[in-house]
Amino acid sequence: MTSRPNKNDLKEVGLSQDGRSPYTGTKQFVPTTKRIAQFSEGHEPKPNDKIVYVAGAFDLFHVGHLDFLEKASQYGDYLIVGIHSDPVVNRYKGSNYPIMNLHERVLSVLTNKYVSEVIIGAPYTVTMQMINDFKIDAVCHGMTPILPDVDGSDPYEIPKEIGIFHRIDSSNDLTSDMIVQRIIRNKFLFEERNKKKEAKEVYIENMIRKQ
Ligand code: C5P
Repeated sequence: MTSRPNKNDLKEVGLSQDGRSPYTGTKQFVPTTKRIAQFSEGHEPKPNDKIVYVAGAFDLFHVGHLDFLEKASQYGDYLIVGIHSDPVVNRYKGSNYPIMNLHERVLSVLTNKYVSEVIIGAPYTVTMQMINDFKIDAVCHGMTPILPDVDGSDPYEIPKEIGIFHRIDSSNDLTSDMIVQRIIRNKFLFEERNKKKEAKEVYIENMIRKQ
């Protein structure tokens, strides 16, 4: 039997190389090209495919994102999702966002069947170079606010100028912020539940030790 973890180990969760929570057993996702490839569709766009590009944080990947990606995919044949890096998301969302790190967000998005490809750490502003390099035909954003880039410019200025920008109504108003708010509201219940769970674990462990 493995020894009971030291409570101080909790401080190391998310920081230690092992990254394992002593209580939940949760392990942080360690990205390798093989692992990422396992989750990706792994095919190139066909010559006449219409390519759609969307970008965002995709933090705490949720049903609002699913509805958005499904609608965005209907604008073409091959959907590329640009996922902003942790510092970029933190710049425009503030607080402790993103909750999930870049690798975790990439993996979540890649599991979606409408997604053909992801850009890991996509630039915040959609540039002409990106549009040309990826042969992008349509750029979409949902109904959530479009926050300016560091210099105050609109990140979709170029796609808007060349007439390939579309605003999509996902018909779903769930956001990552709303999920965080729910968690905060339920924090007390959550902590109580965990306290009871932990007490039960200690009790069972003591019983086993006594045997
Ligand atoms: O907020 P986040 O950057 O994760 O959103 C990624 C994309 O999903 C954005 O285009 C946003 O407008 C869209 N979205 C949506 N409906 C939701 C949540 C997000 O259309 N309920």
